[in-house]
Amino acid sequence: MKIHKYDTVIVGAGGAGMRAAIEATKRSRTAVLTKLYPTRSHTGAAQGGMAAALANVEEDNWEWHTFDTVKGGDYLVDQDAAEILAKEAIDAVLDLEKMGLPFNRTPDGTIDQRRFGGHSRNHGEAPVRRSCYAADRTGHMILQTLYQNCVKEGVEFFNEFYVLDQLITEENGVKKSAGVVAYELATGEIHIFQAKAVIYASGGCGKFFKVTSNAHTLTGDGQAAVYRRGLPLEDMEFFQFHPTGIWRMGILLTEGARGEGGILRNKDGERFMEKYAPVMKDLASRDVVSRSIYTEIREGRGCGPEGDHVFLDLTHLPPEQLDAKLPDITEFARTYLGIEPYTDPIPIQPTAHYAMGGIPTNVEGEVLADNTTVVPGLYAAGEVACVSVHGANRLGTNSLLDINVFGRRAGIAAAEYSAEHDYVELPENPAALVEEQVERLRNSTGNERVAELRRELQETMDANVMVFRTEQTIKTAVEKIAELRERYKNVAIQDKGKRFNTDLLEAIELGNLLDLAEVMAVSALARKESRGGHYREDYPNRDDVNFMRHTMAYREVGDDGTETVRLDYKPVVQTRYQPMERKY
Ligand code: FUM
Repeated sequence: MKIHKYDTVIVGAGGAGMRAAIEATKRSRTAVLTKLYPTRSHTGAAQGGMAAALANVEEDNWEWHTFDTVKGGDYLVDQDAAEILAKEAIDAVLDLEKMGLPFNRTPDGTIDQRRFGGHSRNHGEAPVRRSCYAADRTGHMILQTLYQNCVKEGVEFFNEFYVLDQLITEENGVKKSAGVVAYELATGEIHIFQAKAVIYASGGCGKFFKVTSNAHTLTGDGQAAVYRRGLPLEDMEFFQFHPTGIWRMGILLTEGARGEGGILRNKDGERFMEKYAPVMKDLASRDVVSRSIYTEIREGRGCGPEGDHVFLDLTHLPPEQLDAKLPDITEFARTYLGIEPYTDPIPIQPTAHYAMGGIPTNVEGEVLADNTTVVPGLYAAGEVACVSVHGANRLGTNSLLDINVFGRRAGIAAAEYSAEHDYVELPENPAALVEEQVERLRNSTGNERVAELRRELQETMDANVMVFRTEQTIKTAVEKIAELRERYKNVAIQDKGKRFNTDLLEAIELGNLLDLAEVMAVSALARKESRGGHYREDYPNRDDVNFMRHTMAYREVGDDGTETVRLDYKPVVQTRYQPMERKY
């Protein structure tokens, strides 16, 4: 076991982690730990843009952006955080431009902007061009730009170091972050990183769904590590289904395609979004569009022999526009479906895309131990966190924005904390939990297989807690997840070795997914209303009287070792905007 000492340790090297690292490295001795290589992080898969009211191509302002974000999140958004997001968006884009990001340009040389779902002029009058973009590779460009700037700043990376545990030490009755425990994939060695401040920026957990835009690596490792240490997870019932995933595969086809004029059509060729969202049409918020797609399918207007998808139609757009603005997704249609998007519509279906919930933080990225108390030295930013700027449904292109605004804030706050505080003593046997976990899996003689349990989990989640939910379907999920968690105790791996043991890695990831799936389903069962991405057919209306509140889920361990999810609630921060009925 090796022990390292850093002022600031960042877990995850996607957009949020690297944006934080650029700030933290300037102010403190910083290490970034990632289970991948930085440029393989999932930020690279984000396509369509980053929202900011630059008003380069039409009238816009940050207040409209704030309002759209609050409305898009079905009023569960903390409005103080949304205001920061929208105000700081402008500098966040300009910072990236200065770092070298090659944004698309208007004819007069300013950063070009495109339409995206839920972003509107003057509180919903019409779609507005607010999303700054680099073709349909915006996330890729952000990731490369941030990585280059990390290298320039001398950020120290520990690649293929998988963080498995969060170390907490109690000092004078206060629980403080002491560091993290990581598993080195190349050697199987365990490393302790003692740190004055730790920032989680390890991304989402969408791999508990089968049809998803998420990479295999998105297994909620950061959320699971802090949850197991008794810290809460917020609003985990809210998961976003992006309307346009490639049919049956879930691969993302950017909403920027509709921003450029693409249209959703049913089997009769009807532009059905006109019925559901007369003003914003195909550019309504994602929860609305995904529900509309499934309503069309359920009512028999789906396409194909099984009527299980609809079409994204780009055939009326000039090929030059597709080549210049949407080169990747048009190529995906050719590669994965054998379809020529110049001439044929593309079969799509909603795909599990983004966790609105996560580790609760305040606007400085400080992690909360309950509704109000921060955990000294612990921070989170990006999809792993819940600040909460996305509430019950995130607007497209607000996530690349979130990682830049709150990644930067967390990097500064953590480094300032490191400068002002000493190391917290490590707990006794800091590696004990990880050693036990790794040895148990390596030596297990059980008869359960990781791939089988993961398949059953994903099928259960797709069938029961997707776009439409009911008490019955959620209960089915809760019961099945409990069964899978029990069977997981008997999981065995084939590879018993130490070097690059991906078998072991996948087994650990599955454990994380099972924990988080349970939190999600239990939180969803208790929320007896429909709001944003959480749609209960048995409670189809939003219920502000009883449920205008954030869910806080805690792991409880009984004397007999039984684990349960305990739910508590936290008030929503409302400043400017009173809740209204959402109409698009
Ligand atoms: O559709 C997209 O390009 C996805 C963007 C996002 O999730 O923000």
